[in-house]
Amino acid sequence: MTVGFIGLGNMAKAMIGGVLAKGLMGPNEIIGTAATEATRLKAANKYGIQVRESNAAVAKEADIVILAVKPQYLKVVIADIMDSIDENKIVVSIAAGKTISWLAKEFEKPVKIIRVMPNTPALVLDGCSAVCRNDLVGDDDFHFVMELLESFGKAYTVPESLMDVVVGVSGSSPAYVFLFIEAMADAAVAEGMPRKQAYEFAAQSVLGSARMVLETGKHPGELKDMVCSPAGTTIEAVRVLEEQGFRGTVMDAVLACIDKSKNL
Ligand SMILES: NC(=O)c1ccc[n+]([C@@H]2O[C@H](COP(=O)([O-])OP(=O)(O)OC[C@H]3O[C@@H](n4cnc5c(N)ncnc54)[C@H](OP(=O)(O)O)[C@@H]3O)[C@@H](O)[C@H]2O)c1
Repeated sequence: MTVGFIGLGNMAKAMIGGVLAKGLMGPNEIIGTAATEATRLKAANKYGIQVRESNAAVAKEADIVILAVKPQYLKVVIADIMDSIDENKIVVSIAAGKTISWLAKEFEKPVKIIRVMPNTPALVLDGCSAVCRNDLVGDDDFHFVMELLESFGKAYTVPESLMDVVVGVSGSSPAYVFLFIEAMADAAVAEGMPRKQAYEFAAQSVLGSARMVLETGKHPGELKDMVCSPAGTTIEAVRVLEEQGFRGTVMDAVLACIDKSKNL
């Protein structure tokens, strides 16, 4: 089985890094291409994968073709590869906002399509992917792609109607979490903590808190209450966050992201 990446940017690199680190595939089973020679060479050197100069060459050789370009370039990429895609190949799109029916229409023929919304923590094997497929994708093909996605994190099947929501809560959300970590660390630095140590404390507490939500199954509000001692320090921070509209701001940000995804 050969997996071909069209686009070797942030997301493709996270996925390739994850698959290789897990040992699910070897570099000889992965090919890729990008718009520029510089990106192709960088990927070949870093991961040991084979690169090709054209999108059509990748589509011709690969059994699974992963479309990892920005949504606005999908039309031109599909035009490049459509003649190389036959009924046996699986096309996997990771583009935000582009539906299975939009993709199928662009190919102008029946094509096996799997739509995935991954996120960049794939790079450290802690990604989260949402997955849906069209009727042409059989269970064996689907399970193989799920296995591929699970090599770099969790993968969940969702109805396609929830894909834009997944963009808001998962695909884009690492950026909001990084902002949160940076802001907490900035405050620690302002009070004299060395920068590196501040990132470690802030990031580790986000990591541990996320694990508590997932592993205890407790409501996040209950876990918050456990940290807030009466007349203590934490409730003071919570008061300021509430006064400044922290939760409403986060909700508005996620909703803006979902809205953008719906209108791409
Ligand atoms: N970034 C995320 O966290 C994230 C999360 C979930 C989903 N996604 C989705 O993943 C997709 C890729 O995002 P990204 O962040 O990885 O983008 P990116 O870092 O900008 O990478 C895009 C890649 O596409 C290549 N490219 C552009 N035009 C091309 C063409 N005509 N033919 C072949 N390759 C072409 C670029 O080549 P050059 O490098 O040579 O310019 C680059 O390697 C998007 O559709 C996005 O919606 C991203």
